[in-house]
Amino acid sequence: MNRVAINREQGRARISRHIYGHFSEHLGRCIYDGFWVGPDSPIPNTRGIRNDVVAALKHIRIPNLRWPGGCFADEYHWKDGIGPQEDRPKMINTHWGGVTEDNSFGTHEFLDLCEQLGCDPYICGNVGSGTVQELSQWVEYINLEGTSPMTELRKKNGRADPWDVKFWGIGNESWGCGGNMTPEFYADNYRRYAVYARNYGNSSLYKIACGPSNDDYNWTRVVMSKTCGERGNLLNGLSLHYYTVPGEWAHKGSATEFTEDEWLITMRKAYHMDELISKHGAIMDEFDPARKVGLVVDEWGTWFDVEPGTNPGFLYQQSSLRDALVAAIHFNIFNNHAERVQMANIAQTINVLQSVILTEGRNIVLTPTYHAFDMFKVHHDAVKLPVFTESEPVAVGFGSIPAISASASIDDEDRVHVSLTNIDPVKEQKVNLELRGIPLKSVSGQILSSANMQDHNSFDNPEKVKLRSFTDAVISHSTVTVTLPSKSVVTLEIL
Ligand code: AHR
Repeated sequence: MNRVAINREQGRARISRHIYGHFSEHLGRCIYDGFWVGPDSPIPNTRGIRNDVVAALKHIRIPNLRWPGGCFADEYHWKDGIGPQEDRPKMINTHWGGVTEDNSFGTHEFLDLCEQLGCDPYICGNVGSGTVQELSQWVEYINLEGTSPMTELRKKNGRADPWDVKFWGIGNESWGCGGNMTPEFYADNYRRYAVYARNYGNSSLYKIACGPSNDDYNWTRVVMSKTCGERGNLLNGLSLHYYTVPGEWAHKGSATEFTEDEWLITMRKAYHMDELISKHGAIMDEFDPARKVGLVVDEWGTWFDVEPGTNPGFLYQQSSLRDALVAAIHFNIFNNHAERVQMANIAQTINVLQSVILTEGRNIVLTPTYHAFDMFKVHHDAVKLPVFTESEPVAVGFGSIPAISASASIDDEDRVHVSLTNIDPVKEQKVNLELRGIPLKSVSGQILSSANMQDHNSFDNPEKVKLRSFTDAVISHSTVTVTLPSKSVVTLEIL
């Protein structure tokens, strides 16, 4: 039997809605075909941005969107993407397929997209191949209200008011595609670039330093030691990138054709996020004991082999029920680390890696991962209720992983939400939810599951995996007994 104990009195930290953020790069068909079809497209759009995509992302209350990369960010020069479309220079997207980037989607289009979505923009600046002045002027162009060469340029390009963008990344993967830097060299550069990314008006920027890849704990230590000190912190967030890759880098595995073993290995690797956050978090605690600096997991998700027949540089993959379980495991981990994790961004929103939306011409498919985001939106900005979880083990290789994971929160209307996963590919799991200090009048819920591990939504069958209401939760005194079918995600609302 599995056990999850929740005590209302222990609610302290808020789960930032920004944990449910997204990432969109100039990569494959994420921006072009995904968000952007251009104003002359027959596909319904508002100033070139797809209406169906905006509606779908608003439904899951997308809180922020990271752009323009990824590796692309460190070769992107923002001035190429402003002004009349016909004057914008073309470039080669060397990282991603060597295709021509015509810069038709630039700063104004991205910020229009965020306004249509009602979400916060998160812009990643170019440190690898850009100058301090370039980044400084980008912030000025976007955020300054007064008169300056940059604001005059912005006005000439049709935008009178500043946008007031808060979230700024100072480089991406500076240890790799963003400049191949050592942590020492990057940290010194971070300090320099960050100084000139100015605060304008009353708002102050939330500056995110490039953090580690996976378990590079030395990177975290060096960057934290050089940016946090007695005289205050020079950063607001430190990024972490970790992808769930079931196989080797050269043969990552198929997104939709996999065995039970591969399912379990994928789950084990998804659970690894917990260890990464705990260990990087412990190093951050040494330099920032008050936990003011957020761990910003601004790239996470599954990474499989591309769909057969597609451009290997476009990273296009399908997304099955397995991806939804991976997402739900991550959400539970992020919720449970709400004191340190202030933001996270799945890679990537549309048509790339673990997408929530796939497009093909005018058609759109919502993936199982989309539905996981939908189920977890109840936790946005709610107060985390710590969970004590005891789980049955599921054997993987020579070890085992927990069958269930859980997280819980209470919102401003006093509604308690509990999210549970059962990664067991064959067996249902019974969970005893022990609720302390929580009146138990009713319980309702939603479930995401399907008959087969590999089930996914396609353009021919877009609703194969969808949300259903969940009724297998029984109240008895202060306990709710929940029967989780194999390979399922459940979110309960307890009133
Ligand atoms: O998301 C794809 C790529 O993965 C990003 O561009 C890069 O930051 C990471 O290596």
